[in-house]
Amino acid sequence: MKLIRVGLLFIVASCAQQPNGTTDAGPVAAPPTNDAGQPIGIADLTGYGDSAYAPDPANPFFVSLGTNDRSCATCHDVATGWSITPAGLKARFTASQGLDPIFRVVDGATSPAANVSSFTSMQTAYEVLLARGLLRIGKPIPAGADFTLAAVNDPYNYASATELSLYRRPLPSTNLRFQPTIMWDGREPSLAEQSMDATLGHAQAMQTETDAMDEIVAFESEVYTAQIFDNGAGDLTGLAGPARLVTQPYTPGVTGPSNLFGSWGNATPQRRAAIARGEQLFDTHRFRITGVAGIADQQVSCSTCHSVPNIGASATGLMLDLGLSDAQRRSADVPLYTFKSSTGATKQSSDPGMALVTGKFADLGRFKVPALRGAVMRPPYFHNGFAADLAAVVQFYDDRFDLHLDGNDKADLVAFLEAL
Ligand code: HEC
Ligand code: HEC
Repeated sequence: MKLIRVGLLFIVASCAQQPNGTTDAGPVAAPPTNDAGQPIGIADLTGYGDSAYAPDPANPFFVSLGTNDRSCATCHDVATGWSITPAGLKARFTASQGLDPIFRVVDGATSPAANVSSFTSMQTAYEVLLARGLLRIGKPIPAGADFTLAAVNDPYNYASATELSLYRRPLPSTNLRFQPTIMWDGREPSLAEQSMDATLGHAQAMQTETDAMDEIVAFESEVYTAQIFDNGAGDLTGLAGPARLVTQPYTPGVTGPSNLFGSWGNATPQRRAAIARGEQLFDTHRFRITGVAGIADQQVSCSTCHSVPNIGASATGLMLDLGLSDAQRRSADVPLYTFKSSTGATKQSSDPGMALVTGKFADLGRFKVPALRGAVMRPPYFHNGFAADLAAVVQFYDDRFDLHLDGNDKADLVAFLEAL
Protein backbone atom coordinates (compact mmCIF):
# COMPACT_ATOMS: atom_id res chain seq x y z
CA MET A 1 0.00 0.00 0.00
CA LYS A 2 1.29 3.41 -0.92
CA LEU A 3 1.17 5.87 1.95
CA ILE A 4 0.54 9.56 1.44
CA ARG A 5 3.64 11.67 1.64
CA VAL A 6 3.48 14.92 3.58
CA GLY A 7 4.60 17.59 1.18
CA LEU A 8 4.57 20.72 3.30
CA LEU A 9 7.00 21.42 6.06
CA PHE A 10 5.29 22.72 9.15
CA ILE A 11 7.49 24.67 11.50
CA VAL A 12 6.55 23.51 14.98
CA ALA A 13 8.80 26.12 16.56
CA SER A 14 6.95 29.31 15.69
CA CYS A 15 10.01 31.40 16.41
CA ALA A 16 8.73 34.64 14.99
CA GLN A 17 5.78 34.62 17.39
CA GLN A 18 7.71 34.47 20.61
CA PRO A 19 7.33 37.29 23.12
CA ASN A 20 11.07 37.27 23.47
CA GLY A 21 11.87 36.91 19.82
CA THR A 22 14.53 39.58 19.42
CA THR A 23 18.14 39.21 20.42
CA ASP A 24 18.06 42.45 22.39
CA ALA A 25 15.24 41.47 24.69
CA GLY A 26 16.04 40.38 28.23
CA PRO A 27 15.52 36.77 29.23
CA VAL A 28 12.21 35.46 30.45
CA ALA A 29 12.33 32.70 33.02
CA ALA A 30 9.06 31.20 31.80
CA PRO A 31 8.44 28.73 28.97
CA PRO A 32 8.22 30.36 25.55
CA THR A 33 4.64 30.62 24.27
CA ASN A 34 2.95 31.26 20.95
CA ASP A 35 0.36 33.95 20.20
CA ALA A 36 -2.37 31.83 21.75
CA GLY A 37 -0.36 31.60 24.97
CA GLN A 38 0.39 27.91 24.49
CA PRO A 39 3.85 26.75 25.49
CA ILE A 40 6.08 25.69 22.63
CA GLY A 41 9.11 23.49 22.85
CA ILE A 42 9.95 20.71 25.29
CA ALA A 43 11.65 21.37 28.62
CA ASP A 44 15.15 19.94 29.07
CA LEU A 45 17.96 20.41 31.56
CA THR A 46 18.80 24.05 30.79
CA GLY A 47 15.81 25.39 28.88
CA TYR A 48 13.63 24.26 26.00
CA GLY A 49 14.35 22.40 22.80
CA ASP A 50 12.18 22.03 19.75
CA SER A 51 12.00 20.39 16.35
CA ALA A 52 10.84 21.73 13.00
CA TYR A 53 9.13 18.90 11.09
CA ALA A 54 5.91 17.77 9.48
CA PRO A 55 4.00 16.06 12.32
CA ASP A 56 2.43 12.93 10.87
CA PRO A 57 1.55 10.20 13.38
CA ALA A 58 0.61 7.95 10.46
CA ASN A 59 4.15 8.04 9.07
CA PRO A 60 5.65 4.55 9.43
CA PHE A 61 8.38 6.12 11.57
CA PHE A 62 5.77 6.08 14.35
CA VAL A 63 4.18 2.74 13.45
CA SER A 64 5.10 -0.75 14.62
CA LEU A 65 6.35 -2.48 11.44
CA GLY A 66 7.81 -5.59 13.03
CA THR A 67 6.85 -8.22 15.58
CA ASN A 68 7.78 -6.61 18.90
CA ASP A 69 5.58 -3.47 19.04
CA ARG A 70 8.51 -1.14 18.46
CA SER A 71 8.57 1.78 16.06
CA CYS A 72 11.50 4.02 15.21
CA ALA A 73 10.09 6.50 17.74
CA THR A 74 10.53 3.94 20.53
CA CYS A 75 14.23 4.82 20.57
CA HIS A 76 14.12 8.12 18.68
CA ASP A 77 11.76 10.19 20.85
CA VAL A 78 11.08 13.81 19.91
CA ALA A 79 10.84 14.63 23.64
CA THR A 80 14.52 13.83 24.15
CA GLY A 81 15.96 15.25 20.93
CA TRP A 82 15.07 12.08 18.93
CA SER A 83 17.13 9.85 21.19
CA ILE A 84 16.55 8.42 24.70
CA THR A 85 17.78 9.40 28.16
CA PRO A 86 18.26 7.36 31.36
CA ALA A 87 15.72 9.56 33.19
CA GLY A 88 13.08 8.95 30.51
CA LEU A 89 13.87 5.22 30.39
CA LYS A 90 13.54 4.82 34.15
CA ALA A 91 10.15 6.55 34.03
CA ARG A 92 9.04 4.27 31.17
CA PHE A 93 10.30 1.19 32.98
CA THR A 94 8.41 2.03 36.17
CA ALA A 95 5.20 3.14 34.48
CA SER A 96 5.02 0.03 32.26
CA GLN A 97 6.46 -2.44 34.81
CA GLY A 98 9.18 -3.21 32.28
CA LEU A 99 6.76 -3.86 29.39
CA ASP A 100 7.30 -0.71 27.30
CA PRO A 101 8.45 -1.91 23.83
CA ILE A 102 11.94 -0.51 24.33
CA PHE A 103 12.47 -3.26 26.90
CA ARG A 104 12.93 -6.14 24.49
CA VAL A 105 15.54 -8.79 25.07
CA VAL A 106 16.85 -8.75 21.46
CA ASP A 107 18.91 -5.58 21.94
CA GLY A 108 17.54 -3.82 25.01
CA ALA A 109 18.91 -6.38 27.45
CA THR A 110 22.53 -7.06 28.35
CA SER A 111 22.28 -10.22 26.23
CA PRO A 112 19.54 -11.95 24.18
CA ALA A 113 19.83 -14.82 26.66
CA ALA A 114 19.07 -12.62 29.68
CA ASN A 115 16.38 -13.77 32.10
CA VAL A 116 13.35 -11.45 31.82
CA SER A 117 10.81 -13.69 33.54
CA SER A 118 10.06 -11.37 36.47
CA PHE A 119 10.16 -7.66 37.26
CA THR A 120 13.26 -8.14 39.40
CA SER A 121 15.10 -10.11 36.72
CA MET A 122 14.12 -7.46 34.16
CA GLN A 123 15.69 -4.77 36.32
CA THR A 124 18.96 -6.68 36.03
CA ALA A 125 18.56 -7.57 32.34
CA TYR A 126 17.95 -3.93 31.36
CA GLU A 127 20.42 -2.32 33.76
CA VAL A 128 22.82 -1.01 31.09
CA LEU A 129 19.93 0.45 29.08
CA LEU A 130 18.47 2.06 32.21
CA ALA A 131 21.81 3.38 33.45
CA ARG A 132 23.18 4.98 30.27
CA GLY A 133 20.58 4.52 27.54
CA LEU A 134 22.71 1.96 25.65
CA LEU A 135 21.30 -0.55 23.16
CA ARG A 136 23.17 -3.78 22.42
CA ILE A 137 24.36 -3.96 18.79
CA GLY A 138 25.44 -7.51 17.81
CA LYS A 139 28.13 -7.60 15.10
CA PRO A 140 30.55 -10.32 13.92
CA ILE A 141 34.21 -9.94 13.05
CA PRO A 142 33.96 -9.71 9.24
CA ALA A 143 35.40 -12.43 6.98
CA GLY A 144 38.90 -11.59 5.80
CA ALA A 145 39.64 -9.26 8.73
CA ASP A 146 43.33 -8.66 9.47
CA PHE A 147 42.70 -9.30 13.19
CA THR A 148 41.15 -11.94 15.43
CA LEU A 149 39.37 -11.95 18.76
CA ALA A 150 42.01 -13.32 21.14
CA ALA A 151 39.96 -13.07 24.37
CA VAL A 152 36.53 -12.06 25.63
CA ASN A 153 35.68 -10.90 29.12
CA ASP A 154 31.88 -10.68 28.95
CA PRO A 155 30.00 -10.29 32.25
CA TYR A 156 26.94 -11.73 30.46
CA ASN A 157 28.71 -14.77 28.93
CA TYR A 158 27.31 -14.20 25.47
CA ALA A 159 29.74 -12.40 23.17
CA SER A 160 31.98 -14.28 20.70
CA ALA A 161 33.72 -13.60 17.37
CA THR A 162 30.44 -14.46 15.61
CA GLU A 163 28.54 -11.85 17.60
CA LEU A 164 30.28 -9.25 19.68
CA SER A 165 27.98 -7.31 22.01
CA LEU A 166 28.48 -3.55 21.54
CA TYR A 167 26.56 -1.15 23.77
CA ARG A 168 25.82 2.14 22.01
CA ARG A 169 23.74 5.29 22.35
CA PRO A 170 20.98 5.90 19.77
CA LEU A 171 22.24 8.69 17.55
CA PRO A 172 19.47 11.27 17.09
CA SER A 173 17.37 10.77 13.95
CA THR A 174 17.32 14.50 13.24
CA ASN A 175 19.42 17.08 11.39
CA LEU A 176 20.28 14.15 9.11
CA ARG A 177 20.71 16.35 6.03
CA PHE A 178 24.05 17.47 7.52
CA GLN A 179 25.45 13.98 8.20
CA PRO A 180 28.15 12.70 5.86
CA THR A 181 28.29 9.31 7.66
CA ILE A 182 25.48 7.19 9.08
CA MET A 183 25.81 5.22 12.36
CA TRP A 184 28.62 5.44 14.92
CA ASP A 185 30.79 3.08 12.89
CA GLY A 186 29.69 4.49 9.50
CA ARG A 187 28.33 1.10 8.46
CA GLU A 188 25.15 2.21 6.63
CA PRO A 189 25.62 3.46 3.03
CA SER A 190 22.24 5.27 2.96
CA LEU A 191 19.25 6.17 5.10
CA ALA A 192 17.16 3.78 2.98
CA GLU A 193 19.34 0.82 3.95
CA GLN A 194 19.52 2.07 7.53
CA SER A 195 15.72 2.07 7.84
CA MET A 196 15.51 -1.47 6.46
CA ASP A 197 18.15 -2.77 8.85
CA ALA A 198 16.52 -0.97 11.80
CA THR A 199 13.14 -2.49 10.93
CA LEU A 200 14.54 -6.01 10.57
CA GLY A 201 16.81 -5.68 13.61
CA HIS A 202 15.36 -3.44 16.31
CA ALA A 203 11.71 -4.10 15.34
CA GLN A 204 12.32 -7.81 14.49
CA ALA A 205 10.34 -7.62 11.24
CA MET A 206 10.40 -10.56 8.80
CA GLN A 207 10.55 -8.22 5.80
CA THR A 208 10.34 -4.56 4.89
CA GLU A 209 8.14 -2.69 2.41
CA THR A 210 9.81 -0.23 0.06
CA ASP A 211 7.01 2.33 0.31
CA ALA A 212 7.15 2.40 4.08
CA MET A 213 10.94 2.74 4.03
CA ASP A 214 10.67 5.62 1.55
CA GLU A 215 8.14 7.35 3.81
CA ILE A 216 10.43 6.96 6.82
CA VAL A 217 13.43 8.39 4.98
CA ALA A 218 11.36 11.30 3.61
CA PHE A 219 10.11 12.06 7.11
CA GLU A 220 13.36 11.86 9.04
CA SER A 221 15.25 13.79 6.36
CA GLU A 222 13.10 16.84 7.09
CA VAL A 223 13.38 16.93 10.86
CA TYR A 224 15.47 19.72 12.41
CA THR A 225 16.19 20.02 16.12
CA ALA A 226 17.85 22.62 18.32
CA GLN A 227 17.46 24.54 21.56
CA ILE A 228 14.95 27.42 21.40
CA PHE A 229 15.20 28.85 24.91
CA ASP A 230 17.89 28.99 27.58
CA ASN A 231 16.82 29.59 31.18
CA GLY A 232 19.64 32.08 31.68
CA ALA A 233 19.93 33.66 28.23
CA GLY A 234 16.30 33.63 27.13
CA ASP A 235 15.23 33.21 23.54
CA LEU A 236 17.71 31.48 21.26
CA THR A 237 15.71 31.46 18.04
CA GLY A 238 16.78 34.94 16.99
CA LEU A 239 20.30 33.61 16.45
CA ALA A 240 19.96 29.82 16.32
CA GLY A 241 17.02 27.40 16.72
CA PRO A 242 15.58 24.68 14.46
CA ALA A 243 13.68 26.93 12.01
CA ARG A 244 16.97 28.37 10.80
CA LEU A 245 18.32 24.88 10.12
CA VAL A 246 15.54 24.20 7.60
CA THR A 247 17.14 26.58 5.12
CA GLN A 248 20.75 26.33 6.28
CA PRO A 249 22.91 25.43 3.27
CA TYR A 250 25.16 22.40 3.50
CA THR A 251 27.95 21.40 1.17
CA PRO A 252 29.64 18.09 1.99
CA GLY A 253 33.35 18.56 2.53
CA VAL A 254 33.15 22.27 3.30
CA THR A 255 34.38 22.99 6.83
CA GLY A 256 33.91 26.11 8.92
CA PRO A 257 33.59 27.60 12.39
CA SER A 258 30.47 27.96 14.50
CA ASN A 259 29.18 31.52 14.06
CA LEU A 260 25.82 31.78 15.78
CA PHE A 261 26.31 33.87 18.91
CA GLY A 262 29.00 36.42 17.99
CA SER A 263 26.59 39.35 18.48
CA TRP A 264 26.22 38.37 22.16
CA GLY A 265 29.87 39.16 22.89
CA ASN A 266 29.06 42.02 25.25
CA ALA A 267 25.41 41.19 25.82
CA THR A 268 23.54 41.07 29.08
CA PRO A 269 22.64 38.99 30.93
CA GLN A 270 25.97 37.33 31.71
CA ARG A 271 24.75 34.02 30.34
CA ARG A 272 24.57 35.48 26.82
CA ALA A 273 28.13 36.71 26.99
CA ALA A 274 29.19 33.32 28.37
CA ILE A 275 27.57 31.53 25.42
CA ALA A 276 29.37 33.87 23.01
CA ARG A 277 32.72 33.33 24.77
CA GLY A 278 32.13 29.58 24.69
CA GLU A 279 31.53 29.66 20.95
CA GLN A 280 34.72 31.67 20.52
CA LEU A 281 36.66 29.03 22.48
CA PHE A 282 35.06 26.23 20.44
CA ASP A 283 36.28 27.87 17.23
CA THR A 284 39.64 29.33 18.14
CA HIS A 285 41.10 27.82 21.33
CA ARG A 286 43.94 25.58 20.18
CA PHE A 287 45.15 22.43 21.92
CA ARG A 288 47.34 19.53 20.85
CA ILE A 289 45.89 16.10 20.02
CA THR A 290 48.10 13.01 19.99
CA GLY A 291 47.47 9.33 19.36
CA VAL A 292 43.99 9.67 17.82
CA ALA A 293 43.61 6.97 15.15
CA GLY A 294 42.16 8.58 12.01
CA ILE A 295 43.87 12.00 12.31
CA ALA A 296 47.53 13.07 12.58
CA ASP A 297 48.96 14.59 15.79
CA GLN A 298 48.42 18.35 15.49
CA GLN A 299 47.12 21.58 17.03
CA VAL A 300 43.34 21.70 16.74
CA SER A 301 40.27 23.50 18.02
CA CYS A 302 36.93 21.81 18.69
CA SER A 303 35.70 22.93 15.26
CA THR A 304 38.60 21.22 13.49
CA CYS A 305 36.70 17.96 13.96
CA HIS A 306 33.18 19.30 14.58
CA SER A 307 33.45 21.10 11.25
CA VAL A 308 30.02 21.28 9.60
CA PRO A 309 29.34 24.96 10.37
CA ASN A 310 26.71 25.43 13.09
CA ILE A 311 25.94 21.68 13.19
CA GLY A 312 29.06 20.00 14.53
CA ALA A 313 29.28 16.79 12.53
CA SER A 314 32.53 16.29 10.58
CA ALA A 315 32.18 17.78 7.10
CA THR A 316 34.97 15.52 5.85
CA GLY A 317 33.53 12.37 7.43
CA LEU A 318 36.31 11.93 10.00
CA MET A 319 36.20 8.58 11.84
CA LEU A 320 38.31 8.82 15.01
CA ASP A 321 39.42 6.87 18.07
CA LEU A 322 39.36 9.25 21.05
CA GLY A 323 40.00 6.26 23.33
CA LEU A 324 36.55 6.09 24.91
CA SER A 325 36.32 2.29 24.56
CA ASP A 326 39.82 1.65 25.89
CA ALA A 327 40.29 -0.74 28.79
CA GLN A 328 40.82 2.08 31.31
CA ARG A 329 37.73 4.10 30.26
CA ARG A 330 35.18 1.45 29.44
CA SER A 331 32.62 0.81 32.14
CA ALA A 332 32.91 -2.55 33.95
CA ASP A 333 29.30 -3.44 33.07
CA VAL A 334 30.18 -4.05 29.39
CA PRO A 335 32.47 -6.69 27.85
CA LEU A 336 36.20 -6.13 27.30
CA TYR A 337 37.62 -7.66 24.14
CA THR A 338 41.26 -8.41 23.28
CA PHE A 339 42.00 -8.13 19.55
CA LYS A 340 45.13 -9.49 17.90
CA SER A 341 46.43 -8.25 14.56
CA SER A 342 47.97 -10.47 11.87
CA THR A 343 51.37 -9.04 12.88
CA GLY A 344 50.88 -9.95 16.55
CA ALA A 345 49.96 -6.54 18.00
CA THR A 346 47.13 -6.54 20.55
CA LYS A 347 44.56 -3.98 21.64
CA GLN A 348 41.90 -4.17 24.35
CA SER A 349 38.59 -2.41 23.83
CA SER A 350 34.88 -2.62 24.60
CA ASP A 351 33.92 -1.61 21.06
CA PRO A 352 36.03 -1.97 17.88
CA GLY A 353 33.78 0.53 16.03
CA MET A 354 34.71 0.95 12.37
CA ALA A 355 37.07 -2.07 12.44
CA LEU A 356 34.04 -4.39 12.27
CA VAL A 357 33.03 -2.65 9.02
CA THR A 358 36.43 -2.55 7.28
CA GLY A 359 38.03 -5.59 8.92
CA LYS A 360 41.16 -3.54 9.64
CA PHE A 361 43.02 -3.60 12.95
CA ALA A 362 44.07 0.01 12.32
CA ASP A 363 40.40 1.06 12.46
CA LEU A 364 39.78 -0.29 15.97
CA GLY A 365 37.87 2.19 18.15
CA ARG A 366 37.16 4.68 15.36
CA PHE A 367 33.72 6.36 15.48
CA LYS A 368 32.02 9.18 13.66
CA VAL A 369 32.00 12.76 14.91
CA PRO A 370 28.41 13.34 16.04
CA ALA A 371 26.43 16.52 15.39
CA LEU A 372 26.04 18.76 18.43
CA ARG A 373 22.69 20.54 17.88
CA GLY A 374 20.17 19.84 20.62
CA ALA A 375 22.76 17.87 22.58
CA VAL A 376 21.49 19.05 25.97
CA MET A 377 18.19 17.26 25.31
CA ARG A 378 19.80 13.83 25.13
CA PRO A 379 22.44 12.95 27.75
CA PRO A 380 24.64 10.94 28.24
CA TYR A 381 27.31 11.50 25.58
CA PHE A 382 29.78 9.64 23.36
CA HIS A 383 28.99 6.30 21.71
CA ASN A 384 29.07 4.47 25.04
CA GLY A 385 27.51 7.15 27.24
CA PHE A 386 30.89 7.77 28.92
CA ALA A 387 30.04 11.40 29.85
CA ALA A 388 26.93 11.92 32.00
CA ASP A 389 26.55 15.58 30.99
CA LEU A 390 28.17 18.24 28.82
CA ALA A 391 30.49 19.36 31.63
CA ALA A 392 31.79 15.78 31.74
CA VAL A 393 32.37 15.92 27.96
CA VAL A 394 34.57 19.01 28.35
CA GLN A 395 36.35 17.37 31.33
CA PHE A 396 37.06 14.31 29.17
CA TYR A 397 38.77 16.47 26.53
CA ASP A 398 40.76 18.24 29.26
CA ASP A 399 41.90 14.93 30.78
CA ARG A 400 42.71 13.38 27.40
CA PHE A 401 44.42 16.33 25.65
CA ASP A 402 45.02 19.03 28.30
CA LEU A 403 42.96 21.97 27.06
CA HIS A 404 44.79 24.56 29.22
CA LEU A 405 41.46 26.17 30.16
CA ASP A 406 40.50 27.52 33.58
CA GLY A 407 37.19 26.77 35.30
CA ASN A 408 35.46 29.86 33.86
CA ASP A 409 36.50 28.97 30.32
CA LYS A 410 35.18 25.42 30.73
CA ALA A 411 31.87 26.77 32.06
CA ASP A 412 31.64 29.07 29.01
CA LEU A 413 32.26 26.16 26.66
CA VAL A 414 29.51 24.19 28.41
CA ALA A 415 27.12 27.19 28.23
CA PHE A 416 27.71 27.30 24.46
CA LEU A 417 27.08 23.56 24.02
CA GLU A 418 23.89 23.91 26.09
CA ALA A 419 22.59 26.64 23.76
CA LEU A 420 22.90 24.57 20.58
C1 HEC B 1 15.76 -0.31 19.85
C2 HEC B 1 16.15 1.06 19.62
C3 HEC B 1 16.12 1.61 18.21
C4 HEC B 1 15.08 1.55 17.31
C5 HEC B 1 13.73 0.88 17.47
C6 HEC B 1 15.52 2.28 16.16
N1 HEC B 1 16.77 2.79 16.36
FE1 HEC B 1 17.77 4.05 15.14
N2 HEC B 1 19.43 3.88 16.30
C7 HEC B 1 19.49 3.17 17.48
C8 HEC B 1 20.88 3.07 17.89
C9 HEC B 1 21.38 2.35 19.14
C10 HEC B 1 21.64 3.73 16.92
C11 HEC B 1 23.17 3.82 16.86
C12 HEC B 1 23.69 2.42 16.53
C13 HEC B 1 25.07 2.38 15.93
O1 HEC B 1 25.57 3.41 15.47
O2 HEC B 1 25.67 1.29 15.89
C14 HEC B 1 20.69 4.26 15.94
C15 HEC B 1 21.03 5.04 14.84
C16 HEC B 1 20.14 5.56 13.94
C17 HEC B 1 20.46 6.48 12.87
C18 HEC B 1 21.83 7.06 12.57
C19 HEC B 1 21.91 8.56 12.81
C20 HEC B 1 23.28 9.10 12.51
O3 HEC B 1 23.52 10.28 12.81
O4 HEC B 1 24.14 8.37 12.01
C21 HEC B 1 19.30 6.70 12.17
C22 HEC B 1 19.13 7.58 10.95
C23 HEC B 1 18.27 5.92 12.80
N3 HEC B 1 18.80 5.25 13.88
C24 HEC B 1 16.97 5.81 12.32
C25 HEC B 1 16.07 4.83 12.76
C26 HEC B 1 14.87 4.48 12.06
C27 HEC B 1 14.42 5.08 10.74
C28 HEC B 1 14.26 3.50 12.79
C29 HEC B 1 12.98 2.76 12.47
C30 HEC B 1 12.96 2.02 11.22
C31 HEC B 1 15.09 3.27 13.96
N4 HEC B 1 16.20 4.08 13.88
C32 HEC B 1 14.77 2.41 14.99
C33 HEC B 1 18.42 2.64 18.16
C34 HEC B 1 17.18 2.38 17.60
C1 HEC C 1 40.08 15.11 17.16
C2 HEC C 1 38.70 15.42 16.76
C3 HEC C 1 37.80 16.05 17.82
C4 HEC C 1 38.04 17.20 18.52
C5 HEC C 1 39.24 18.12 18.46
C6 HEC C 1 36.88 17.39 19.35
N1 HEC C 1 35.98 16.40 19.15
FE1 HEC C 1 34.20 16.22 20.10
N2 HEC C 1 33.96 14.36 19.25
C7 HEC C 1 34.82 13.77 18.36
C8 HEC C 1 34.43 12.38 18.17
C9 HEC C 1 35.12 11.38 17.26
C10 HEC C 1 33.33 12.15 19.01
C11 HEC C 1 32.60 10.82 19.21
C12 HEC C 1 33.59 9.91 19.98
C13 HEC C 1 33.02 8.62 20.49
O1 HEC C 1 31.84 8.57 20.90
O2 HEC C 1 33.79 7.63 20.51
C14 HEC C 1 33.03 13.43 19.66
C15 HEC C 1 31.96 13.65 20.52
C16 HEC C 1 31.66 14.87 21.12
C17 HEC C 1 30.47 15.14 21.90
C18 HEC C 1 29.39 14.13 22.24
C19 HEC C 1 28.19 14.23 21.33
C20 HEC C 1 27.21 13.10 21.49
O3 HEC C 1 26.12 13.21 20.95
O4 HEC C 1 27.51 12.08 22.14
C21 HEC C 1 30.54 16.46 22.30
C22 HEC C 1 29.49 17.21 23.10
C23 HEC C 1 31.78 17.00 21.78
N3 HEC C 1 32.43 16.00 21.07
C24 HEC C 1 32.23 18.29 22.00
C25 HEC C 1 33.53 18.70 21.72
C26 HEC C 1 34.16 19.90 22.24
C27 HEC C 1 33.49 20.91 23.16
C28 HEC C 1 35.43 19.93 21.75
C29 HEC C 1 36.54 20.92 22.06
C30 HEC C 1 36.96 20.94 23.45
C31 HEC C 1 35.59 18.75 20.92
N4 HEC C 1 34.43 18.04 20.93
C32 HEC C 1 36.74 18.46 20.23
C33 HEC C 1 35.90 14.38 17.76
C34 HEC C 1 36.51 15.54 18.23
